[in-house]
Amino acid sequence: MQIIDKIISNFTNNKSLYIGEKVTMSEHMIQTAMLAEKAKCNDDLICSCLLHDYGHFILENPDDLIKLNVDGHHENIGHEYLKSFFKKNIVEPIKYHVLAKRYLAKDKKYYDHLSEASKTSLNLQGGVLSNDECSKFENQKYFKPSILLRKFDEAAKKTNIKMKSIYDYKRLLVSKLK
Ligand SMILES: [Fe+2]
Repeated sequence: MQIIDKIISNFTNNKSLYIGEKVTMSEHMIQTAMLAEKAKCNDDLICSCLLHDYGHFILENPDDLIKLNVDGHHENIGHEYLKSFFKKNIVEPIKYHVLAKRYLAKDKKYYDHLSEASKTSLNLQGGVLSNDECSKFENQKYFKPSILLRKFDEAAKKTNIKMKSIYDYKRLLVSKLK
C-alpha cells in the first residue's frame, strides 16, 4: 500500500506542466485515463493510461532534458519502476506507448496532427519506425493496448474540462497491484 500512497502524493504534489502544453503532468495522465474510461476500455488499460507518464515524475526535470536534446526514456523509467508493484498487463503498454507513437507517426496525417512539442520529442525518441520495426510491433502481445494508450495520450491535453481526482482511481490502483 505504500506505493499507492506514494503515487497519490506524486499526483497531488507535482505541479510541473506536461511538456509544451497547458495542463500539468498529473492532469494529463488523469485525462488519459478518463478517455480510456469514456471509450469503455477495460480496467487494465485505464490503469495503464493513468500511470503511463509516471516516469516523468521520476525524472527530475523533463523540460531540461528536452532543452538538452536528450530523451529521458520516461517510458522505460516508468516501466522499470512500476513493474515491481503492478501486474504485467498494466506496465507493458506503458513501456510501449512511445513505440506506438513512432508506429502511428508513419501515417502522414497522424504526424501532421502532432503538436510541435510532440514532433520534437518524436525525433529525440528515434523518429518513425521502419517497415520491419512496424511489423515486429504489430505481432507483439501488447500492440493493441499500447496503440490505444497512445491515442488517448495524444488527446489528453484539454483545459477547462471537469477533471477527476487521483483519489477517484485509488481503488483501481489497489486492485492492479501484484
Ligand atoms: Fe503522455
